[in-house]
Amino acid sequence: MELRKIEDRGGEVFVRKYYDGVHFPPNVPGNVKDHLETLRNLKHKEGDILLNSFPKTGTHWTYDVLHMLLTGKAEYSIGKIMAMDYEPTEKFDALDSPRILVSHLYPKHIPKSVIDEKCKIVYIYRNPKDTAVSMHSFIKRLNIDGFKGYNGKWEHFLEMFATKQLQYNTWFEHVKSWLDYKEDNPDFPIMFVSYEDMKKMIDIPQNLRRCVQKMAEYLGAKQDPEFLDEVAKKCQFSAMSKAKTTDETETAFSRDGSNPFYRKGEVGDWKNWFTVAQNEIYDEVIEEKMAGIDLELKYTL
Ligand code: A3P
Repeated sequence: MELRKIEDRGGEVFVRKYYDGVHFPPNVPGNVKDHLETLRNLKHKEGDILLNSFPKTGTHWTYDVLHMLLTGKAEYSIGKIMAMDYEPTEKFDALDSPRILVSHLYPKHIPKSVIDEKCKIVYIYRNPKDTAVSMHSFIKRLNIDGFKGYNGKWEHFLEMFATKQLQYNTWFEHVKSWLDYKEDNPDFPIMFVSYEDMKKMIDIPQNLRRCVQKMAEYLGAKQDPEFLDEVAKKCQFSAMSKAKTTDETETAFSRDGSNPFYRKGEVGDWKNWFTVAQNEIYDEVIEEKMAGIDLELKYTL
């Protein structure tokens, strides 16, 4: 493992743990290698599913949808979500089945048992403009080692996000690795879910059940219409962010006691952040990097 310093134009320094081709955030334990090795050998439990994503693409949201579907109860998970990347593996051993294993890892680093047992994987993705805005706002709110003093400017952050391997490398590389994995392993059960589709379907009443229903079908979960309605209703941003305001396991991460995993929950907020020039430059980056990535992206609803 190598500690790499990445400096933005305003002098903000990001320290990342570089290991096996990936820039990990500082809160991945120790030298990364040992943690990943233990994780690779995580023991399987019946019904395990993996929720994987690039950070800030709606992981917590999707977790609660899946959690409700798997438990058959439209109740929020409080204090339950934890990512394998940052927590000791024993914590996951202690979870009862069916477990939702969460990570931002690349396919090559996920537990062997997930592959061997062909566990269902849900990969949530979101357009990279909103993801960039969400990540910048998020890390400014964080009170954990490696992020505490960060007060970088948006324009500097965007340059880094667009061109450098900030954490988990770039959004493009991450998404591509999972699409490639699916292409190389067509029989492997991976469901790609778009944040924008969830948002559209969950917020438009006549469609709200469709997206949740698709996931329920994929998981083989209970599908009675009233239950799915209730899940969709509870997982709308307004209701969910309110319910999570006092989740202490999450508010503990923030500088001001708020829950940093909930901000606006919108599609297209990037328009309030990108200047015309920034948008033009980033569009060029997107066009270049999306070559060979077969994914339809939505920037507005
Ligand atoms: P914003 O910062 O754009 O608001 P993650 O869980 O991967 O860290 O993603 C966080 C993003 O998902 C934040 O985006 C957060 O507000 C948004 N989010 C959380 N719950 C949501 C919900 N129920 N509906 C829509 N977006 C949600």
